[in-house]
Amino acid sequence: MSIDSLTALVRTIPDFPKPGIQFRDITTLLADAGGLRELVDRMADVARPLDPDLIVGIEARGFILGAALALSLGKGFVPVRKAGKLPGRTVGIDYVLEYGTDRLEMHEGQVPDGARVLLVDDLIATGGTALAAAQLLREQGASVLMALFAIDLPDLGGIAALEADGVAAAAIIA
Ligand code: PRP
Ligand code: HPA
Repeated sequence: MSIDSLTALVRTIPDFPKPGIQFRDITTLLADAGGLRELVDRMADVARPLDPDLIVGIEARGFILGAALALSLGKGFVPVRKAGKLPGRTVGIDYVLEYGTDRLEMHEGQVPDGARVLLVDDLIATGGTALAAAQLLREQGASVLMALFAIDLPDLGGIAALEADGVAAAAIIA
């Protein structure tokens, strides 16, 4: 499938979740068997040469693509979640949003010291979420080989922000 056909499977919904936001909705792509296969294959082609030890996915849509990618590469999957969702002992990081702060957490010990991880999410906008997740992983002694996204919103500068922080980053659809 061409990149244009893949891109066409992403639906844009105006004014969600607030007026003025053009929301890029991947559920239409996920629901299409050929599109889902194509997206995961393209992500796997980027990730495979890096030979990560683990795939780490960011809540919520990063779980869908991260788990599919982990299966495709034969690797394990570790979730990074919004605060208060994980049942075991957690390590976390607070990060600043446009209004207020948020917190990401993962299970303590699930990413071993020295692990070489691939970070996955469906979309990068400002990069704030992925930057926080990458910092949390580094604090656990992991190295983030790359942050990989299905979609980039280049006008918001997220990939540039990650790279300025020393995290290699790429997206399939821009
Ligand atoms: C979206 C998206 C990324 C993040 C990108 O998640 O899936 O995780 O925002 O934005 P950023 O680059 O500006 O940080 P959302 O906050 O909608 O959470 P959800 O996946 O749990 O719905
Ligand atoms: N789609 C999905 N998640 C998002 C978006 C979007 O357009 N913008 C910020 N997070």
